[in-house]
Amino acid sequence: MKSGRGRQWRGCLLALRFLFLFFWGVPGARALDNGLARTPTMGWLHWERFLCNLDCQAEPESCISEHLFMQMAELMVSDGWKDAGYEYLCIDDCWMAPERDPEGRLQADPQRFPGGIRRLADYVHSKGLKLGIYADVGNKTCAGYPGSFGHYDIDAQTFADWGVDLLKFDGCHCDSVKHLIEGYQYMSLALNRTGRSIVYSCEWPLYMWPFHKPNYTKIRTYCNHWRNSADIYDSWESIKSILAWTSSNQEKIVDVAGPGGWNDPDMLVIGNFGLSWNQQVTQMALWAIMAAPLIMSNDLRHISPQAKSLLQNKDVIAINQDPLGKQGYLLRKESSIEVWERPLSNLSWAVAVMNLQEIGGPCYYTIAVASLGRGIACNPACLITQLLPEKRKLGFYTWTSSIKTRVNPTGTVLLQLGGTSKTTS
Ligand code: GLA
Repeated sequence: MKSGRGRQWRGCLLALRFLFLFFWGVPGARALDNGLARTPTMGWLHWERFLCNLDCQAEPESCISEHLFMQMAELMVSDGWKDAGYEYLCIDDCWMAPERDPEGRLQADPQRFPGGIRRLADYVHSKGLKLGIYADVGNKTCAGYPGSFGHYDIDAQTFADWGVDLLKFDGCHCDSVKHLIEGYQYMSLALNRTGRSIVYSCEWPLYMWPFHKPNYTKIRTYCNHWRNSADIYDSWESIKSILAWTSSNQEKIVDVAGPGGWNDPDMLVIGNFGLSWNQQVTQMALWAIMAAPLIMSNDLRHISPQAKSLLQNKDVIAINQDPLGKQGYLLRKESSIEVWERPLSNLSWAVAVMNLQEIGGPCYYTIAVASLGRGIACNPACLITQLLPEKRKLGFYTWTSSIKTRVNPTGTVLLQLGGTSKTTS
């Protein structure tokens, strides 16, 4: 029989866990007050997969044109992407004509976007999706198209008039750090002044780092997400270097993230050519732990069922989109094993065990349950479910027990402690 004192003690513990998470859960910095990106943005962006392909004659299916975006919009709806949460269909660089129009407005390349952006936005909206566009704070975009410097108000208004829902604002060709900082802030206010809800995706810290440490508290008050590290490539090297950058800077960046403002480690490249299955699992698991925007860059017309099911995994997306909005962090590194964890709502935790060893077979790694979730995740006991690489209920664990994981080289095991995962029942 349970003693009254035991019950009291457990009640106390529970109250402490609530208090701890309540105070810890209060975001330190005020977010951009546009009501958007309360959870990380989800969508599709053309850059990593399609770059600046202008040759519609030779490559009509992969050049940057309205045809490409209309096809992607259709597939986002018909193939379950929209239902999984991927909502923003985003255009990157190279959509513009080389010159502004006679009124000084940006215009789309007339050959590749004969209907203009307004018509494309209408089409995208008719599918229940949102449209993202790209511009640059400096004199030119990274690919050399007209920059927004000196035109912030008119560009913000043009995007709003077209019905754009997200702006990715790049930082190439800016002549000074002062202009970079002021430009990013000005554009945020200009977008707000249009009265249209436009998610503001910045690259401000990435372009600041070479000069001085970015002021993240300030960045958060102007941007909905911000890129910190170099452009992602379709390679394991690239994934590793983004994760290494993130963990080595986690003291500076993790606490700034929260509803309304997120660190952006760049696009998901799952479904392309460069990552093995285990590496794709690692990207999906770690992007969920990092509360990263889930913006795919792949070809939805040609994607394997395996990559599709990984990208549409409800349990993993639920972790990424967790309403508590706390970014996870690297908890421990032991030779080639990294353990990352992220607090979730309902007193639940996500834990990722990643194996960076690129020689040999799977690595067996045992973790004491008490060392996870700041000692409170599984106290006095919890249900543990493995979500990746495949879903498996591992059962009940007590605080004094340990979990044994088997992690493939360059792969990750993603676990959920406590709570109920979306499809557990
Ligand atoms: C920069 C950005 C990329 C992409 C290209 C386009 O490199 O970081 O994400 O937008 O410009 O030119």
